[in-house]
Amino acid sequence: MGIAEANTAGNVHGGVILHLCDEVAGIAAVRHSGGRVVTAAMDRMTFLHPVYVGNLLTVRATVNAAWRTSMEVGVRVEAENVRSGEVTHTSTAYLTMVALDDEGRPMEVPLVRPETPEEERRAREAQVRRDNRLHERRSIESGRRSE
Ligand SMILES: CC(C)(COP(=O)(O)OP(=O)(O)OC[C@H]1O[C@@H](n2cnc3c(N)ncnc32)[C@H](O)[C@@H]1OP(=O)(O)O)[C@@H](O)C(=O)NCCC(=O)NCCS
Repeated sequence: MGIAEANTAGNVHGGVILHLCDEVAGIAAVRHSGGRVVTAAMDRMTFLHPVYVGNLLTVRATVNAAWRTSMEVGVRVEAENVRSGEVTHTSTAYLTMVALDDEGRPMEVPLVRPETPEEERRAREAQVRRDNRLHERRSIESGRRSE
């Protein structure tokens, strides 16, 4: 991260990290689906520690689960102090990406088949987040209808 990425406090701007997460999540979703994808939602973004100018960022993304046309992609951001070698987990994000066909309509994607306990945990937790999201949406819609 260079000074062009800094905010007025001198650390790396959160928006720069959001942008990287979106880009990397998109690549993971394209690899999984084989189609082009759009970001439907960024469901969660945590900033656990500041990222400093001079840090080397590593951004990794995994497709945690896939449903009909959407996928949850988990992104982990780590910042390395290159001089000391110290690595800090600075952010985690969860994004919902939707695959689109050539006409721009949502298209079906392959399911994720977890093979390791870690992948099973990720898929289970992705399902919890999706259920919560859908539950929240239904509650808000029914609240508005009854206004
Ligand atoms: C994402 C998008 C394609 C969904 O279109 P839609 O008409 O709602 O399509 P559908 O109702 O068929 O839903 C398609 C999938 O998107 C999911 N989805 C739609 N809106 C969502 C939202 N707000 N949050 C999470 N998932 C959402 C649905 O759950 C569904 O998933 P599933 O098929 O796996 O069950 C459409 O809203 C869109 O094009 N948004 C703009 C995306 C974009 O430009 N992103 C870049 C931001 S600048």
